[in-house]
Amino acid sequence: MTIGQQIESAAEVFLSSGLTTPRLDAEVLLASYLKKDRIWLFVHSDRDLSVPEAEGFRRWVARRQEGEPVAYLVGHKEFWSLDFAVDPRVLIPRPDTEVLVEEVLKTLALQGIFSPDILDLGTGSGAIAIALASELPEARITATDLSREALAVAAGNAKRNLPAGRIEFLQGNLFDPVKGLFDAIVSNPPYIAAGEYSQLSREVRNFEPREALLAGEDGLDFYAIIIPQAASFLKPEGWLLLEIGHDQKKLVEGLFSQSGLYRDVTFRKDYAGRWRVAKARRKEEACG
Ligand SMILES: C[S@@+](CC[C@H](N)C(=O)[O-])C[C@H]1O[C@@H](n2cnc3c(N)ncnc32)[C@H](O)[C@@H]1O
Repeated sequence: MTIGQQIESAAEVFLSSGLTTPRLDAEVLLASYLKKDRIWLFVHSDRDLSVPEAEGFRRWVARRQEGEPVAYLVGHKEFWSLDFAVDPRVLIPRPDTEVLVEEVLKTLALQGIFSPDILDLGTGSGAIAIALASELPEARITATDLSREALAVAAGNAKRNLPAGRIEFLQGNLFDPVKGLFDAIVSNPPYIAAGEYSQLSREVRNFEPREALLAGEDGLDFYAIIIPQAASFLKPEGWLLLEIGHDQKKLVEGLFSQSGLYRDVTFRKDYAGRWRVAKARRKEEACG
């Protein structure tokens, strides 16, 4: 079969398996498999694949048909216009999380803080920490994760995208390995409730790390710890910024007010109009 026919055939398989972007997936996978770009595929659509190429691509199509995410198959994902290596050790960075990065940058710029101390809790692939480091060359950035495996991926991504030594990576449970005070603490923690896990798409459920997603019975376990504890690691009037699930605004608002440690609690919507970022400022007198 020619390249054009391979794409048609893979797209049909993906469509019948219920994948939502069948043609795009087929093109991205074949381009990546052949180590070319998608334009090259169009220019060479009449070229036949060799037998080993066709066989290798067929195996990728079968894996995608089973729901394996495109990003894991091709081994990377774009976030904040940077290229991140990803594999099943880390959550695939989501475009939604760029809104959190934007909000951190905007908040610090409005305060006139250009060489901030920033902590990224639960860094995964390193997406948030590395995006912030790329925008704030004077920032001192610490990134943590419970998973040593995730930190290995994050460190590789830092090497791929930044000058050496820009980010300090620490392994441990939430604040356990953290020392010092920060202008901003940012986190996209796990926030899926136990009962919602089975409703996630099979792409997420069967392939992405559970420990990056699950957060107890109500999905609030991490917020319930991070919100009170973060105050002890923020400079007076420092900022805590959290990604939240689209239906968690009220509950997270309640956790901020229960803590009594913050003021100026606000929320920001993503570009689909859903509440996805919580932001609050440590009260000057709060000590967590
Ligand atoms: C939703 S993922 C976010 C990953 C990345 N920051 C992003 O936005 O793409 C949550 C991350 O928190 C980490 N994590 C889970 N439990 C943790 C804990 N107790 N302490 C530190 N990190 C934890 C997971 O390993 C995972 O990398």
